[in-house]
Amino acid sequence: MSQFTEFVQPYMGRLFTALGLDAEYERAEGNTVHHRDDRGELVPVLDLMGGYGSLILGHNHPELVAHAKAVLDSNRAVHAQFSLRGEAGRLGAALSDIVRRETSVKEPYIATFGNSGAEAVEAAVKHAELVRVRKAAALADEVAAHAEAASEAARRDGAEADEDAFRLPALRTRVTPADGVEGLLAAVAAHNAAALATRPLFLALERSFHGKLVGSVQLTYNAGFRTPFQNLGTRVRFVPMDRLDLLDEIAREERVVLLDTEVVDGRVRVTERDLPVVTAFLVEPVQGEGGIHVLTTEQGRAIRLFCNKAGTALIVDEVQSGMGRCGAFLASSLIGLRGDYYTLSKSLGGGLAKISAMLVRRSLYQGEFDLIHSSTFAMDDFSSSVALKVVEMLEADDGLAYRQVTERGERLAAMLNELKDTYPDVIEDVRGKGLFVGVQLYDQGRARSMVLRGTAYTGALGYLLSGYLLRQERIRIAPTGSAGNVLRIQPSLHLTDEEIERLRGALDRLCRILRHEDTLHLVHP
Ligand code: F0G
Repeated sequence: MSQFTEFVQPYMGRLFTALGLDAEYERAEGNTVHHRDDRGELVPVLDLMGGYGSLILGHNHPELVAHAKAVLDSNRAVHAQFSLRGEAGRLGAALSDIVRRETSVKEPYIATFGNSGAEAVEAAVKHAELVRVRKAAALADEVAAHAEAASEAARRDGAEADEDAFRLPALRTRVTPADGVEGLLAAVAAHNAAALATRPLFLALERSFHGKLVGSVQLTYNAGFRTPFQNLGTRVRFVPMDRLDLLDEIAREERVVLLDTEVVDGRVRVTERDLPVVTAFLVEPVQGEGGIHVLTTEQGRAIRLFCNKAGTALIVDEVQSGMGRCGAFLASSLIGLRGDYYTLSKSLGGGLAKISAMLVRRSLYQGEFDLIHSSTFAMDDFSSSVALKVVEMLEADDGLAYRQVTERGERLAAMLNELKDTYPDVIEDVRGKGLFVGVQLYDQGRARSMVLRGTAYTGALGYLLSGYLLRQERIRIAPTGSAGNVLRIQPSLHLTDEEIERLRGALDRLCRILRHEDTLHLVHP
């Protein structure tokens, strides 16, 4: 268990107070939030946390607020469950068109809506499992029918067991030629019954984050979030992002076969048929909560090829990286990665509505899924209408917003890399894509200062620095949840040159403090 999980997570509430992070924000617009100081004055703070990535258009964007007001003023039937949900339908069609444009996939995508990112992941996991279960059932029916035909051939035509059948790994310790065809078929049936009881497996990358609900939390790498509930949820294996060569080994280890029979020239033969066991592989094109790690084109290609070969669904989790955050609607489209499923949320709601979408290729879609998977508030007209407005704003002027994200992200990264060149002893790495950026600070485990050594040991360095930046620089930045020494910067696309320069000044002062271990500044009230 990481030190952060052991020493920090349990005390987060008190930690926030101790570090002065417990401000209450009353107003917000663009990249600025306001809280009151001790004198009751409103204090503006540059917000680079950006709603954990949900504010690509900024706080309370005027056009979105006006649109939301108009929806409410029109007395729209926001909740009209079990009816024709026109706005949700138009939103689903718009999302499908954008995904097809960016991925060049011919077939449309079918949308299932939810209220949070984790819900979209859960919907994708459930749908992929429904597909797997149905494939497995069809295969089970097929081999059962073949076994029945073989039994009939033995009874009616005296068909005999083929010698090779008794040498199959799954049978050689269970049955011998002396047991005859009936004995062989009984062993085949016993093996198949056990094989069909195999629990499905999901694959995810180390450092992943896919949510904290019962199913999705098992796909989230952070042991502190996942371990207490591991007996409740899905079976998952985590693969290091830089060791995708292990995938074939995992496929071999996890291979489960059904035994199929056929009668050829009066002999009953047994063959192995692969049972679909790996339900889905989940990837974030840019890992966020796990420390800002960008999936490369080659890694994406290796994952796609594995899924094609294994018949495993590829779920591309764009909850954080999507909605233009990285310079395209889908971050995965920038590395040519095509998913069978996509999950979207955060900025889809424009910072005003809670909405998520799970998109699945139409040829995979299971017709009655939206009956067996639903949620009271999903597809509501208010959220769908706001989300449609968000999509319209992102897509306007031939995707000007995406170009803005790219240009702003390049300016931000350029400044951060200049700082890294100035403080190579403090800043270990600057990485990310578009306006999804991480600044990794060297672990301060060998610092002379006990304050720094302590925070390094507990993984709370980033929180200590966030408190300093908020109190002394009036800038809101948070470390990534599972990598306490990575500061995550996720502003809106309206990030100005002045805000970039303000951040430069603040981080320059912070790097000097760390270089000289001038920690009194960090703990000053
Ligand atoms: N998937 C990804 C890639 C996420 O980053 C998140 C949340 C979720 C799913 C879950 O969405 O919170 O709406 O249920 N990420 C937050 C973060 C927690 O810190 O980046 P949710």
